[in-house]
Amino acid sequence: MSTEATTPTRVLVTGGAGFIGANFVHHIVNRYPNVDVVVLDALTYAGNRESLATVRSRIEFVVGDIGDAGLVDDLVRRVDAVVHFAAESHNDNSLADPRPFIDTNIVGTFTLLQAVRAHGVRYHHVSTDEVYGDLPLADPLRFTESTPYNPSGPYSATKAAGDMLVRAWTRSFGVRATISNCSNNYGPYQHVEKFIPRQITNLIDGIRPRLYGAGTNVRDWIHVEDHNRAVWRVLCAGSVGRTYLIGANGELDNRTVIAALLEEFGRAPDEFDQVTDRPGHDVRYAVDSSALRRELGWTPQYLDFRDGLRSTIRWYRDNEQWWRPDKVATEAAYRRNGETRL
Ligand code: NAD
Ligand code: TYD
Repeated sequence: MSTEATTPTRVLVTGGAGFIGANFVHHIVNRYPNVDVVVLDALTYAGNRESLATVRSRIEFVVGDIGDAGLVDDLVRRVDAVVHFAAESHNDNSLADPRPFIDTNIVGTFTLLQAVRAHGVRYHHVSTDEVYGDLPLADPLRFTESTPYNPSGPYSATKAAGDMLVRAWTRSFGVRATISNCSNNYGPYQHVEKFIPRQITNLIDGIRPRLYGAGTNVRDWIHVEDHNRAVWRVLCAGSVGRTYLIGANGELDNRTVIAALLEEFGRAPDEFDQVTDRPGHDVRYAVDSSALRRELGWTPQYLDFRDGLRSTIRWYRDNEQWWRPDKVATEAAYRRNGETRL
């Protein structure tokens, strides 16, 4: 493994019109104005041009698929680093229709790896803590870089497969890659299908939040800006060949998150609906990010979940035109896939 302390000058960001990718693009354009940013995004249902509207004149935006080998090769040859966010990212969708997850998360990742291999370009692979499976409740253990992979569903299995390709291309072909596995993100520009924005936008619309099953499942929440600062740090100073876990000690069960949201909206604590649980629902995620903190000096800046939640609620209140077009179709899809009140 070698440490590279270099700042890229021209970066290809895949999935830059999605939730985390768009926040990353904003971060780079605003913090590092000398870095050229090229976005490659297929604008699936999860991608939104409007997420890049305020930085549009300062980036190059290419609409296309990461599985398109010719296009990917043309773009990769022009940059000195790739940060790969593009993915099919929603567990519930992966249970309803796994195929796009295979195409994008596995074949798409393969396509990018072949291009960075051909052109000797530095590659950072954005992945998830869900590749490690889940942990029991009330267990002191957390995921570390050496936890065995044990994915539960099609989303995490395809992300795990992508990670394995990165490791193999690093070892066999000398690709200069790093991987980061982050816990659950929240913040602006997150699609309304996901837990926190779904409940915020429900509450704005006077609809009761939806809790899967008993709501005892635990997620380890991190603000998207903290995630992206860590990704940039790993890209610039991480050791090639390494995996870094990103997390902010934000463990909360879903019931507690709903209670916090109801309180922020001035609603009674019991004004939510319990609905059909997710099949194979992972019980608990928890990330030990001490290696990243120790080795690369990263620390999260959002230390109070309630403050981060409040600013996120404010963002959804102030940006209704951004999420409104997706809301009805998203709720219809949940109904179509069998979500019913318990
Ligand atoms: P997202 O679903 O909001 O965005 C994904 C983006 O990728 C969209 O803009 C979509 O149009 C684009 N895309 C999808 N398929 C594509 C293809 N074939 N070619 C080109 N573009 C394509 O996802 P997100 O929540 O921003 O997640 C980004 C990355 O971070 C993913 O790799 C995900 O696994 C990982 N991650 C997410 C979280 C989280 O909490 N959201 C946590 C840890 C890791
Ligand atoms: P989600 O945002 O889908 O992320 P992930 O499945 O990657 O953790 O869901 C977060 C948690 O919230 C998960 O335990 C499932 C639960 N959940 C609900 O209780 N209600 C909902 O409406 C949604 C979308 C998720």
